Amino acid sequence: MEEKYFSIKFSNEKLIFLDQTKLPLVEDYFETDDYERIARAIERLEMRGAPLIGVAACYGLALSIKNYSKESTEENFYKAYERLARTRPTAVNLFTALNEIKKVFEQNKDSEDIYNIVLSKAIEFHQDDINKCKMMGEYGSKIFKKKSTVLTHCNTGKLATAGDGTAFSVIKNGYEKGLVGHVYADETRPLLQGLRLTSYELERSGIPFSIQTDSSAAVLMQKGKIDIVITGADRIALNGDSANKIGTYNLAVLCNFHNIPFYIAAPTTTIDRNIASGDEIEIEFRHQEELLSVNGHRIAPAHYKAFTPAFDVTPSHLISGIITEEGIFNFPYNFLK
Ligand code: MRU
Repeated sequence: MEEKYFSIKFSNEKLIFLDQTKLPLVEDYFETDDYERIARAIERLEMRGAPLIGVAACYGLALSIKNYSKESTEENFYKAYERLARTRPTAVNLFTALNEIKKVFEQNKDSEDIYNIVLSKAIEFHQDDINKCKMMGEYGSKIFKKKSTVLTHCNTGKLATAGDGTAFSVIKNGYEKGLVGHVYADETRPLLQGLRLTSYELERSGIPFSIQTDSSAAVLMQKGKIDIVITGADRIALNGDSANKIGTYNLAVLCNFHNIPFYIAAPTTTIDRNIASGDEIEIEFRHQEELLSVNGHRIAPAHYKAFTPAFDVTPSHLISGIITEEGIFNFPYNFLK
């Protein structure tokens, strides 16, 4: 099936995005020029995935100063900055993006053309993510042998980035070179990014795949069906500890037990150069309702207590390699260099 969808587009002074909460059954694009709507879309996971929320936030900041008088521009910019920074705490790409735009704003705030200057930076950040995805795919495909069977978790493709994805770009590039034969996609409880989004992307890229419950990964490995596991990341500490969708750490431990390589693919915008280890990563906890319901249908009483971390941290010694747009890094990681 041909790929015809996009996660995000800036056109006619508006941000157009695909509402990922409705996929794969409904393809609904939404357009807005309101940063508050962009912030809500990030919170509600209409747009999600670490690199994508960074790009969306850049456009949010640009739009926050589109129609304002010179006097109110600064106030609006900082209001939007604070609002967008409050949406999700774990993916550092969001903060990297917001801070890059803030720097450009502060250097040019007296210019009559401040909106266009900030918008150009947002477009540059967007294009940069597309390029980084491509380079990760190029470097990353070296990890596969012929017709490898790959297991992945959550969603890391076009829907999670502005380009072809992180781990997904590596898989896609490997598939196009005949190095990937089949992909097992974890369903990724509770919000089913694997079942709903990764399958959507795999199908549109023509890559053979199966879906399984997260808890089936162990038996697949035990039966020798998995050659390699690759996921994305939401924040990587200087020592290589990596936060990603809840359940990623389980996979890394399982790979270690079964002697299967476990890789992470992420752009350098996912590296947090201010933290030494994963202990310092703030983990987002989602609303309990997301676990106690499926697709809006209650499956357990509302008063049940639920443990709802959205991410876990995989210690770097369990990671065989981290694929970035600059190449593949191996343990011991030291991203300060
Ligand atoms: O909660 P989500 O859907 O935003 O989580 C996304 C992930 O965990 C991805 O694996 C991650 O952002 C890295 S790949 C783009």
